[in-house]
Amino acid sequence: MNGLLGIENLTREEVQAILDRARDFQPGEGHGFRRFDLLRGRMVVNLFFEASTRTRTSFEIAAKRLGADAVSITAQASSVAKGESLVDTLNTLAAMRPDAIIMRHAASGAPHFLQRHLETPIINAGDGTHEHPTQALLDARTILDRGAKLEGLRVAIIGDIAHSRVARSNVYLLSKFGADIVLCGPASLLPPELKQMAPGVTLTTDMNEAIRDADVIMMLRVQLERQHEAAFPASEYFQFYGLRLEHLDTARPDVIVMHPGPINRGREISSEVADSQRSVILTQVENGISVRMAVLESVLGGKINAGTAH
Ligand code: CP
Repeated sequence: MNGLLGIENLTREEVQAILDRARDFQPGEGHGFRRFDLLRGRMVVNLFFEASTRTRTSFEIAAKRLGADAVSITAQASSVAKGESLVDTLNTLAAMRPDAIIMRHAASGAPHFLQRHLETPIINAGDGTHEHPTQALLDARTILDRGAKLEGLRVAIIGDIAHSRVARSNVYLLSKFGADIVLCGPASLLPPELKQMAPGVTLTTDMNEAIRDADVIMMLRVQLERQHEAAFPASEYFQFYGLRLEHLDTARPDVIVMHPGPINRGREISSEVADSQRSVILTQVENGISVRMAVLESVLGGKINAGTAH
């Protein structure tokens, strides 16, 4: 079954192939993204049941840059709002014969469940707290662009680990390449079982320990929409888990600061860090297009069997 449901079931070679191909699509210095005719006549549907700025827009741009047609719909603007079931909505869209459906859903496993009912390839644009595969791919492309190898790299992922599909996809990807991954956050947002997720993972609640000697610091948003308990007050959270300039002193001198966005300034990251030379947050956004071009080409062009349903 073609599609991209997660990083977990991809081989290291499949991940590498996407990352290598993404480099071909990156714009040259001072240039925009080039247009290709690789997917002319193909059509993708973006179906988002949760809010998105980066992922939805970049998938649409990526499809168009490859010559494909892209249609975007949100749950609020679809017949889901009139009570249609998820399976019926997907079957309805599939009857219009798109070449792929790109979907984001609040329920973990939703795209995996739907892929069992559908021949149309599904690309997972984020499912609940489970996976966000293209985010991990664009993060890896961004790290590699700095000239770093993933093997042996110390990557600190800090914040609301419990609810983060970005953290999970990054752990699966970075672990395949031999990185050391430190997951850090308040104990209530750091499930101990994540240590067993993949080789190379350690956990700490101490932000200073996580950052010491880090090559990459990846900050995460507190996902208030997924929390059932009372959230930390913003100022208290920032005091213990907000990234400030002084934290960078104990990291590697060439440390980069990443964030999948949307960023909450003054909650998990200070403006001084977000706007500093060490921040590659907007480079991540830019790489989202080239990586998604590579994913669309591999899924629609059938070059790589990019992931299978669980
Ligand atoms: N990183 C990310 O998924 O951002 P959006 O929610 O804006 O798509």
